[in-house]
Amino acid sequence: MRVLVAGGDGQLGLELAELLPERGHEVTALSHRELDIAGAAAVDGALEEHAPEVVVNAAAFTNVDLCETEMEAAYSVNALGPRNLVGACERRGASLLHVSTNYVFDGGQNRPYEPFDAARPISAYGRTKLAGEEHVMRLTNRWYVVRTAGVYGRGHNFVRTMLRVAGERDSLKVKHDEYVSPTCARDLAAGIARIVEDKNYGLYHLTSAGSCSWYEFACEIFRLAGVEVEVVPVPSSEYPLPAARPANGVLSSLGSPGLRHWKKALADYLEREAAARGTGAARG
Ligand SMILES: NC(=O)c1ccc[n+]([C@@H]2O[C@H](COP(=O)([O-])OP(=O)(O)OC[C@H]3O[C@@H](n4cnc5c(N)ncnc54)[C@H](OP(=O)(O)O)[C@@H]3O)[C@@H](O)[C@H]2O)c1
Repeated sequence: MRVLVAGGDGQLGLELAELLPERGHEVTALSHRELDIAGAAAVDGALEEHAPEVVVNAAAFTNVDLCETEMEAAYSVNALGPRNLVGACERRGASLLHVSTNYVFDGGQNRPYEPFDAARPISAYGRTKLAGEEHVMRLTNRWYVVRTAGVYGRGHNFVRTMLRVAGERDSLKVKHDEYVSPTCARDLAAGIARIVEDKNYGLYHLTSAGSCSWYEFACEIFRLAGVEVEVVPVPSSEYPLPAARPANGVLSSLGSPGLRHWKKALADYLEREAAARGTGAARG
């Protein structure tokens, strides 16, 4: 398939750009600099030039806290960006796979969120991402929406932050009352490839299997990396941030291609990161 990836320089975009050609697809991955999805004319031009059969939107305004104060910018990327993409896809007969988030849910439910559970975002990021999903679902019949969570890859993420901070302190505090399924960007890219290859349009929840609190996630990172640091579990109320986060951010994988367990994916990721540091190839 001929695939165009928007947001090709982000964590997910980088993995898609590497993995899709390995699976026999012809891929053009465009960075933010090469394609700003907030501009309708630029999006039209890119589809005209590359004539993709499938567009994957891995671009987003992902700074959750900044979305609270930069709502206009967040909306233009997270809501108008997918609207521009879906319009251009519809005009050319292409399909669109749009990536969304567990932050469309409020986190108050005591079981994992199924794709059919009602979305009720509690942050500007979640609201703008939900608006993006709605544009995609309403403006074409050829849509896939893939919600994911807690992504880490070659970019700014929780795993890298924990390892950096552990190098600067003897002890650190991590929230124990917010739950997530940490998701390896490389595995997520493989799941997305399967979804577009299967051509079953619709809404998917795609995360690594299993779930944990951010505290448990941090402990596992340090255990696997062999880093000795005191990790203190704290309630999120001790960590006031501009944007509210769902306490339960766990998505059910009902109807989705299953991904392997987050602990296994994390172990592989840390090995790859260590190997890349050894060769000087670590990025971000
Ligand atoms: N990271 C997570 O934990 C997480 C959790 C749930 C869902 N998701 C979703 O998963 C998807 C991929 O996330 P990720 O972790 O790969 O994020 P990321 O590493 O922040 O990548 C997002 C990319 O989008 C680019 N971008 C921003 N504005 C753009 C614009 N107007 N036009 C084109 N590109 C633009 C960014 O470029 P610049 O940096 O140069 O601006 C960046 O390369 C997103 O839809 C995100 O909402 C992520």
